[in-house]
Amino acid sequence: MSKRLWDKGQSVNAQVHQFTVGNDPEIDRGIVYWDALASAAHAIMLSETGMLTTEEKVGLLDELKIISDAGLKDEFDIPEELEDSHSAIEAKLTEVLGEAGKKIHTGRSRNDQVLVAMRLYLRSACAELLQQLSEIAMAFRMKGEEIGHVQFAGQTHFQPAMPTSIKVWLGAFFEHSLHLMKSGLSCYELLNQNPLGAASGFGVPIELRRGRTTELLNFGATQRNPIFVQNSRGREELRLLEFICEIGGMLEKFSWDGIVYSASEFQYICIPEDFTTGSSIMPQKRNPDVLELMRARVGKLRGARAELEAIIAKLPSHYHRDLQYTKEPVFRAVQNVSEMLAVASKVVAGITANSDKAANSLTPEVYATYDTFKRAKEGVPFRTAYKETAEAIASDAIDVSSLQSEFDSIAQETDNEYAKAAHEHAELTGRVVLLQRELAAIPTKLFG
Ligand code: ARG
Repeated sequence: MSKRLWDKGQSVNAQVHQFTVGNDPEIDRGIVYWDALASAAHAIMLSETGMLTTEEKVGLLDELKIISDAGLKDEFDIPEELEDSHSAIEAKLTEVLGEAGKKIHTGRSRNDQVLVAMRLYLRSACAELLQQLSEIAMAFRMKGEEIGHVQFAGQTHFQPAMPTSIKVWLGAFFEHSLHLMKSGLSCYELLNQNPLGAASGFGVPIELRRGRTTELLNFGATQRNPIFVQNSRGREELRLLEFICEIGGMLEKFSWDGIVYSASEFQYICIPEDFTTGSSIMPQKRNPDVLELMRARVGKLRGARAELEAIIAKLPSHYHRDLQYTKEPVFRAVQNVSEMLAVASKVVAGITANSDKAANSLTPEVYATYDTFKRAKEGVPFRTAYKETAEAIASDAIDVSSLQSEFDSIAQETDNEYAKAAHEHAELTGRVVLLQRELAAIPTKLFG
């Protein structure tokens, strides 16, 4: 006898079964924990509406606690014939508890079951990325304070442009991280909505206290229209992937800069030796493979986003089995970006500066724009000053020593910006800590 929930006795072509189930039993190991939490909230709610006895609820919660622990440790097996996490959990509950297990699906469909499990996962992944962004922001800030005084020739088009410093350069990534935290917090707010109760996408004709499961799972709101709830499957996943790709955008820029600035032609910075790799043939080589792979992984993140977008694009309203494939790219991207942030933070912390090389880059023409502004401050119209500077460069008459101090006003501004950013960083991190606390409180709320 087949154990599939919807089985009514017909035979299923084995190859078709294999095709439709695909790697879902493996992929769904990643949502067992969340599925168990949401099932616990559902059971509590059902007992409060009278659909489960207190005894049945207690039995379900005890078993769901065991399943959630196993899920967390990746120890809950999903047999192929049971298709997915949802069926496997129900089968387990029924095996252990009998009738109570058969009641857990009251008022629920696998459609909203997977929606809520994924929503819990997405929300938690978002919170963890926010935490990691807070950490990398701190790494950029600390390193900027430590080696930031070193000045070098900033470039546009890879041509020498104007003086800048490591503090300004790393400060850019400090501020970028904060910007991403704000983006992540607004992503979190939209993810923080409870889809449970939409059932197959049309609601159910029994009493469901949707607000109660929202409260038990610490969601910020309940999604309302059941068709909209179903239509949000994949869309909220895409929202997180957009955020992840934004993070990728920063890491990509940082990787590129790190590769260029540590290259022997520039060498303003050094990447710690144990973060570089050697060559099998050229004995002198130390290569920035970590940063190159970081840059390449951003391509993988964009690939995951493209995969997800292509799967959900052009789908009409309601559930379609296509949606089963929305999980894998999300898990893959989250795993990748999380590793990337962790490694990038370590690279940042290990950077050292090469003051001599940096100073060598500050040739007289790099001070040309300062020279123009100095003249303008003395009353020469800007366009005239610009021409005077051009002539001074041509005749080698730029006096660098008198222009060094021009950088000071910019440096002062950088210090002020760091102070403001540090304040903002503390405020944003405080918000993330509160989110984490709210999430951490859920298992106790459900299981006691
Ligand atoms: N594994 C399925 C998915 O991820 C679960 C939902 C199945 N629902 C259905 N109506 N066949 O989409």
